[in-house]
Amino acid sequence: MFPKAIDFLKELGIEFEHKQFPESTEKGAANVAKALGHTERQMVKTLIFQSKDGEFVCILVGGDQNAVSKHLKKVVGSKDVRMASPDDIKELTGYVVGSIPPFSWQKENFRTFIDESLKKEEVLGVGAGRWGEEIMISFNDLVKASNSQIVNLTDKEKPIFPEVIHVDDLKLSGEHLMSEEVDLLPENEKVSISEINKFVGKEITIQGWMYNKRSSGKINFLQLRDGSGFIQATVEKSEVAKDVWDNSEKLTIESSCQVKGLVKEEPRSPSGFELDVRNIDIIQIAPEYPIGKKEHGPEFLFKQRDLYLRSKTPWAVLRIRNQMFLSITKFFEEEGFIRYDTPILQPTSCEDTTQLFEVDYYGDKMYLSQSGQLYSEAGIMAFGKVYDFGPVFRAEKSKTRHHLSELWMMDAEMAFYNQEMNMDLQERLVKRIVGDVLEFRKTELEILERDTTILEKVAKEPFIRMKHFDVKKLIEDNGMEVDYMDDMTTEEEIWLGHHFKNCVFIEDYPFAVKSFYMKKYTSMKTYKGKEGIENAVNSDLVAPEEGREIIGGSQRETDYNLLVEEIIERGYPLDDYEWYLDIRKYGTVPHSGFGIGLERTLRWITGVHHIRETIPFPRSLVIRKP
Ligand code: 4AD
Ligand code: MG
Repeated sequence: MFPKAIDFLKELGIEFEHKQFPESTEKGAANVAKALGHTERQMVKTLIFQSKDGEFVCILVGGDQNAVSKHLKKVVGSKDVRMASPDDIKELTGYVVGSIPPFSWQKENFRTFIDESLKKEEVLGVGAGRWGEEIMISFNDLVKASNSQIVNLTDKEKPIFPEVIHVDDLKLSGEHLMSEEVDLLPENEKVSISEINKFVGKEITIQGWMYNKRSSGKINFLQLRDGSGFIQATVEKSEVAKDVWDNSEKLTIESSCQVKGLVKEEPRSPSGFELDVRNIDIIQIAPEYPIGKKEHGPEFLFKQRDLYLRSKTPWAVLRIRNQMFLSITKFFEEEGFIRYDTPILQPTSCEDTTQLFEVDYYGDKMYLSQSGQLYSEAGIMAFGKVYDFGPVFRAEKSKTRHHLSELWMMDAEMAFYNQEMNMDLQERLVKRIVGDVLEFRKTELEILERDTTILEKVAKEPFIRMKHFDVKKLIEDNGMEVDYMDDMTTEEEIWLGHHFKNCVFIEDYPFAVKSFYMKKYTSMKTYKGKEGIENAVNSDLVAPEEGREIIGGSQRETDYNLLVEEIIERGYPLDDYEWYLDIRKYGTVPHSGFGIGLERTLRWITGVHHIRETIPFPRSLVIRKP
């Protein structure tokens, strides 16, 4: 059974209206539409078709379902497409046909198509999964939630493929071409906005972009940015040559320019400084900027991520990301680690095998790395203490604001370390990262309007350390229903963060929900009548303020025979792990390690709502472009 549509939308952070209609309403889209004051076309039908080669596809159309035209065959790419049988649909989705909420299910490789003509409707109605309820949602949000491709299914006149585009229509001309006349200033003759405080009373030149403009008629106030910061530049008509004034008039949002001016202190400006303009060289006049004027929703902004990167929020978030790289690198250097790069193409899995991305590797199967850990374990036998830092890949089926498919992970691995020492190291690292961000990235935190009370507490006060069992007990005692044998749920992690307002190490999970390589022991605890549960010698670190799990780590199993048994037990191919078992065969030592998710941690530190904000070009179940 797929998740409930409403929970699913909430988790995605999508806005929608949940409507109930009178019990007396008769079945059928037309009746529901009438009861809710909408047209029949606004009520979206979910149809499931099956192609001859067995593929199931989902079709979202409005109004008369018979309108689905011949285009369907072309869209699906199969000659023989027909409605799937109700039995198949039940088996496939867990829902009875007709009542299916179209967006809360995402089977692997399941394609969903939405009819282009629905774009015209202001709002669309989709089933909530229960008779009597409807979800009203915008076209764009429905596309996103259902991960659908927009296609023409109903308009027989229109071709399904876009019309031919003429190259000349795409080309820029005139002032929109870059000026070849501007001489590039040598590095030592230009000034970065971030360093402008050193040049008060001096004439300097900056190179950058105009991100906004205000005008009083006699004065143009140019908001400039150069990548290092933001500053206001004033151009007074009566004070500058005519061509300088004219250039200031010509500048459009995101036009590039080279601006010379006098640096003045200006207590009213956020940076404390202002530029009194003396000259403007235009490099390029930008055509009308798509994300310039009004407030835009995140969907729109992420479709234009290449441009959205220039805005203040991404600027601040991604500079804090850079700070984290620096802090982590310095921290490990000081702690005596070496950076050790692990392969991205791996023949085996490290974590959950259901989340592997498979690659055709010269005709053989390989996987994109989920973590460099197993290779780091080999590394410590050569170097003692190592860390890697790179992209890892998880074919996550969940579309939450905490999950990416491509994320950056730092794995650290240490010889002669037990779990206690492992946690101590993690705590020092997190304190260092948070401390550095508070100290060196003040401007960015201000732009993000981040309340830093809890971050300051995290940087100073010791982290909470509790066993998994005791955490579940605490949550249960506070009125929630818990499963002692299970992983932590989203709600539980969030509750814990709010409760302690500090980072919490949750130690010793039931081994059954954790990875094969963890050291384990048999606990004397009794869980609801069950005795002798196996626990892992591990910890997850949960961040406060809905940060959720940011680190996973453990002491590693060093017993060769136990590890062989576990690999067989989990059905992994023993052959492929032979090299990994060598680590336990030749001079093994107690060792531990952990992996920190860069984006999870950054999301928490910056306080942005969704993890997609924390990486330049996010990749997730629903985002693959640009
Ligand atoms: O807990 P995980 O799966 O641990 C490991 O991969 C270990 N091999 C690490 C090790 O011991 N060297 O992942 C570690 C962290 C998580 O705590 C989380 O912060 C992040 O990686 N993470 C994700 N972040 C965003 N999206 C996802 N889909 C993530 N999966 C894991
Ligand atoms: Mg984990």
